[in-house]
Amino acid sequence: MSSRHPPPASLPPPAIRAVGLRKSFWQGQRCIEVLKGLDFMIQEGEIISVIGPSGAGKSTLLHLIGLMDHPSDGTLELFGEPTANLSDATSSFWRNRWIGFLFQFHHLLPELSVWENVMLPLRIRGMDRRLAAERACEMLDTLGLAERLSHRPAELSGGEQQRVAFARALVPEPRLLLADEPTGNLDQRQGEELRRLLWNQARQRQMTVVLVTHQQPLAAAADRQWTLVDGQLQKEALSVGLE
Ligand SMILES: Nc1ncnc2c1ncn2[C@@H]1O[C@H](COP(=O)(O)OP(=O)(O)O)[C@@H](O)[C@H]1O
Ligand SMILES: [Mg+2]
Repeated sequence: MSSRHPPPASLPPPAIRAVGLRKSFWQGQRCIEVLKGLDFMIQEGEIISVIGPSGAGKSTLLHLIGLMDHPSDGTLELFGEPTANLSDATSSFWRNRWIGFLFQFHHLLPELSVWENVMLPLRIRGMDRRLAAERACEMLDTLGLAERLSHRPAELSGGEQQRVAFARALVPEPRLLLADEPTGNLDQRQGEELRRLLWNQARQRQMTVVLVTHQQPLAAAADRQWTLVDGQLQKEALSVGLE
């Protein structure tokens, strides 16, 4: 039987889907409910920003999405795959393959050179040293750090250190980047430079980004801006789109 109107090809699953996502912590006898049942969907390639007061649970949310902690309740799917009941080995595998992290502090290893820091995730994955080094140097070149390959992190400016951390996050070609106040330690010029690189790379790679920030201009540049307050997400569609 043929149809003149075949159904559309099925849509790819969202990058992230959360239903009733909750997280509580016990502090002594007291249970603190941080995330009180979040429902959201993020499509592949979207850049989402999350703002909210200190202690609202923004980092906790990134930890759940990044499989660094388990929700107290609710479901979380990444790229259509349920994440409940993953073994530690499978979670680590997903983190190494699919998820890049960028934090406020660069967490580079001080005794290693820039290129050695950047190739680490590839070595952890078992890539041959020579190939890993080549990929690391290419990525550093893309991010404007070709002149800094053999330096130690302490010899770089704050903006450069954060760009190296970004190169390290990108080199495994993650499908999802989780950034927790990545410009929090940078001055305005360095912060804008990192934002430009981050946006360029995300768009080129169709990489999904969840970005926590206190900086309103950065948050407003995202495809959608969410506010986390009282354990709930307030979602507003914004499309200012600084490219
Ligand atoms: N591992 C933990 N154990 C106990 N409480 C925690 C833990 N992680 C976070 N919290 C609490 O959860 C709340 C949210 O923290 P966090 O996610 O770091 O907030 P934000 O990143 O928005 O500043 C805070 O009250 C914090 O003390
Ligand atoms: Mg935080």
